Order: sequence, then structure tokens, then C-alpha cells
Amino acid sequence: MADNTLALRGGTVIDPGSGYAGQADVIIAGGMIRELREPGTFAGGEAVDVGGMLVAPGLVDMHVHLREPGQTQKETIATGTAAAVGGGFTSICCMANTTPPIDTPERVADLLSRIERDALCRVYPLGAATEGHGQERLVDFRAMLRAGCVAMTDDAFPLQSRELKQQALSLAREAGCVFIAHPEDKAISGSGVINEGEISRALGVAGMPTEATASAVAEWAELGSLGARVHLAHIATAEELRAATAAAGLWDGRLTVETAPHYLCITDEAVLRFGAGAKVNPPLRTAADTVALTEAVRDGRIGIIATDHAPHSPEEKAAGLMAAPFGLVGLETSLAAMVTVLNPDSPAEWLGLIEKMSTAPARLLGLRAGRVAPGEPADIMIVDPVATWTVRPGRFRSKGRATPFAGMQLRSRVWATLVGGRFAYREGEVLARAG
Ligand code: DOR
Repeated sequence: MADNTLALRGGTVIDPGSGYAGQADVIIAGGMIRELREPGTFAGGEAVDVGGMLVAPGLVDMHVHLREPGQTQKETIATGTAAAVGGGFTSICCMANTTPPIDTPERVADLLSRIERDALCRVYPLGAATEGHGQERLVDFRAMLRAGCVAMTDDAFPLQSRELKQQALSLAREAGCVFIAHPEDKAISGSGVINEGEISRALGVAGMPTEATASAVAEWAELGSLGARVHLAHIATAEELRAATAAAGLWDGRLTVETAPHYLCITDEAVLRFGAGAKVNPPLRTAADTVALTEAVRDGRIGIIATDHAPHSPEEKAAGLMAAPFGLVGLETSLAAMVTVLNPDSPAEWLGLIEKMSTAPARLLGLRAGRVAPGEPADIMIVDPVATWTVRPGRFRSKGRATPFAGMQLRSRVWATLVGGRFAYREGEVLARAG
């Protein structure tokens, strides 16, 4: 083999795509995985010892707010992708609620040129469903996909009328793309800032009833006969889960569901400690919801984990619970939070977790990612599965600092991330792109 070959030696490969979990050396050349070999049988090229580590596909996050263009005080493509590679992500999809929104092919092209210039991992645009997020005119879905979007979405500006939802799904079906829905009935969520319950009452702030999201999930779920593929973003309550699973039969596998780590681990009590640092939409809910969602991730009713990484500047978040914007950061804590809550010990449990954080979202969106197998891109995450660390938001690479995981001790640590066969992150350091 050529001299520029790299061997990751002595690790345990986790490849959900084939179901393989076991010892193998991973041989990389030309940005691709060339071979998985019997440990210790490869000589030549550069070797990196990854003994005791897991060698898994780089994580794939289909729900990230990168804020560029227009809101670079919150995040940029450079800082957001630095956070991504530090968290083990090699592919992320960026949400369309930038300034201006990503709602025309020209804006997709501008975004792609910024990505080309600044991104440290692969970044795929998502397109805004309506012009200017205005909830009136749907955009040309086909043209957006041709320009480079990998799915269309109403995230952050949830479609309200049933008619518009139906039209959006018809366009998505014709264009052959997934529609990523933000289920929320604004007439019910109103001016609520946190979960409606004991804590909102104790603090005297407006709450969001669970009905706000559950009724919207039920409405989306009734549209299965339209033949589109729908992905429900950030499911946060047991009620939403029930509404989505009740309708699953109508969809023949075309309905997928996502949740985020904070909905499995943290309840609305975090608002007492962190204030707006725990303000997110949909809001953190109750202990019963965290238990129900964790169960659904374990048994596969929830098949995809995304971060909903939604950074805001510390100044904006300091405006108090009522005035501060909704949103938490997640890229740098996501894997460790999931490992801490699910506590995977067997190879089968690791396969299940990495499937939901990498292979499944890649498959859903048709991205060439999510595998550690010969012939696939060398987009790889190397993880120390037993290390523990304490979340210190001041050390994040993201510009956002708001996380209710602050101060928590989490298990598992990303040791390195390779994108296209090159180290983008290694032992605490983000490495600049070569060339
Ligand atoms: O908490 C949230 N933040 N929820 C959303 O729907 C939008 C997001 C953002 O863009 O900040």
C-alpha cells in the first residue's frame, strides 16, 4: 500500500450498518476506508494506537443551527463545526432559520460556498419550507434540492394550517425528499416559556401545555396517506410519542421520530437552577417524560437522536427567562450524555446507540456516512468508552454556552474525529483544515 496509508490499530470497530462489533485494525488511504484487518497483521504506513477505544462511524446530526449567515454573534460555520468535530460529528445538517433564511437556491449556493470555505466537517443544508418563513407561500422544493438541500423543514416556524401541511407533504413527495416537521400548535403554546406545571406556576411564568406539541404530532401523523416521508423533530413528551406511535401503521415506515439528549436526561426543574440557560423550545418536561422517551430510544420506537444545537450569545441568554431566546447547545455533550443515560456495555448496545446517532440519520437523508466498512469514506469517531469528564461550558468551542448539563459528570469521551481520513480533532485539539 502507498505510504500515505493510516492504520488505526487495536481498537474495537462498531459498524451498525453491518452489525459488526469486534476487534479490527482500520486501514485508511485516499480519504477512504480500505480494509478492516485482523489486529496486528498490517505493516507499513503510519499507525495510530487506539487500543481500548471504540472506532465508530462519525456521528451524523440532522438538526443543527449554525446561524450563518446573519447571526454570527451566536455561532459561525467555523465555530459550529469546531464544536461538531470535538463532539465526534463528521456530518451535520444546518437549519434554515438564518438571516436571511435559506429559502431560495441562490441562498443555498451562498451557504454552500461559506461551508466550502470554513467547515471542518461535512455540512448539508436544509431548506426553509415557506418564503421568508412566512407561512404563506411554499418554496420550490425541487429547486432547493437541486441547489444542494438534503431535506426541507419548517423548524422554528412550525406550519399551522392543515392545508399548508398537506401541500408541503405533496411537494416533498414529488421532490422525493424528507420533510422535517416541527410539531407545535402556536395557538396552544402561546407565550409559554417553559413547561406548564408546578414550576411555571411557582415562578409565575406562562407555561406551554403538552397539548401544544401532542396535537400537532397527531395532525402530522394523520397525513400518512399522502405518501410523503415525514420526520418529526424534537419529540419531548410521552404524549407526543403516543400520538406518533399510534399512527405508525398508516405510514409504512415513512414516519420517523427524533429526540434530543436533554429530553432524556433533564426535567423542567433545571429552570430553577439555570434560568434561561435551560430555556428551549420544545421545553424540558417532567421526569415521567424522560423515562418514557428513554424507554422508546432503548426499544427503537425513537430511531434517531439529534442535538437541536441552537446557540445564542451569552449576552442574549442573560436577558432573563422571559426575554431570552429559546435554545441550548448540544454538539459537545451529545454522545457523552447519551452514553451516561443509556449506559451501553455490550457491543449490541453500542451498535444500537451509534445506529441512532449516525447510521440511521445518514440512511434517512441519503448521506454517504454512518459506516466503518471498506469502500466507505473515512469519517470516523474514536471514543474512550469509560473516561469520565465534567461539563464546563466555558471550554466549549461553540459560541453558545447554554446547557443544563453544565457541571454534570458524563461518561465517555471523544478521543479523535477523522473527516475524509484526516484528523479534524485529536486529544482535545481541533486541527485546522489542510489546504
Ligand atoms: O429552542 C429552540 N431554538 N427551538 C427552536 O425551534 C428554534 C431554535 C433556535 O433557532 O434557536
